[in-house]
Amino acid sequence: MTPPALAVAFHDLEPEPSDFRLDVLAGLSKPQKELPPKYFYDTPGAKLFEAICALDEYYLTRTELEIIRVAAPEIARLMGPNPLVIEFGSGSNRKIRALLERFGRLAAYISIDISKDHLLEASRDLAKSHPGLEVIAVCADYTTRLDLPEPKDPAAGRPLGLFFGSTIGNFTPLQAHRFLANGASELGSGGAMLVGVDLKKNKAVLEAAYNDRAGVTAAFNLNLLERINRELAADFDLARFRHHAFYDEERGRIEMHLMSLASQEVTIEGEGFVFAEGETIHTENSYKFGLEQFQEMARAAGFEPARVWSDPERLFSLHYLVVP
Ligand code: AVI
Repeated sequence: MTPPALAVAFHDLEPEPSDFRLDVLAGLSKPQKELPPKYFYDTPGAKLFEAICALDEYYLTRTELEIIRVAAPEIARLMGPNPLVIEFGSGSNRKIRALLERFGRLAAYISIDISKDHLLEASRDLAKSHPGLEVIAVCADYTTRLDLPEPKDPAAGRPLGLFFGSTIGNFTPLQAHRFLANGASELGSGGAMLVGVDLKKNKAVLEAAYNDRAGVTAAFNLNLLERINRELAADFDLARFRHHAFYDEERGRIEMHLMSLASQEVTIEGEGFVFAEGETIHTENSYKFGLEQFQEMARAAGFEPARVWSDPERLFSLHYLVVP
């Protein structure tokens, strides 16, 4: 007998492959070459990111998870009964599981992620372990405004947006403002948002987190070139580029680059791109914040910061923001 289908509703709003092509060609044509970090997360990239999260040096994931576990009962009280939970960039679903252990019933869980295979696998696993929960998987780029599906439950309580992992730090300040402002208007008055935010700290701790000894972050960064080779008929020689990450204290951000180790030309779909020795492709910023600095940003986007939790070492923070 075939097993019953799992209860995951799937909405496919995956961006067109032509977006990737145009973004790569445009980014590599700029004087400071760059690639948007959202393209890290193809199937191999999403797996490498999971491996980063488990690294000793990468304190962000385990610290945030610990804060979520401690804060969850209070978050459940603040939200009231039957909330509708919407997660932007759900990844492996580990954090929603930590919340679910402490929440009562949810109206539904809407999981939005750009990495389709990963999203489907994680959503099916979650539906399997929580049979009463309506799981709605949406494959989409959540940096654009989305029309979210309605839950089946007509008695849904207040909406709670989740944006974990300090992914907000990968946006430019303008993108972060837009994301929060969109979120506030999508959630509506009475809605709330939980945002995980990495804090400013000692440079050595930060730089170690993005230059791990096992080289997983380097592989994650270089996978972007592999992806371009795979999907866009390109001929990047990965041995001629190296991972380069550093903390810029003034800007309060980690910058990741891929540095060309030689003067060379790379061809992408017949178009040539010249690299000088030492020239870099800027692949990611990861902004770090002060507590008040982030609260100020949330206020400017239409939220009222209502509660913030941190760990004893003040490495990471979790902000509970409400829409007045
Ligand atoms: C997803 N994001 C918050 C990670 C970060 O720390 O900025 C991505 C990452 N890049 C290198 N390591 C992890």
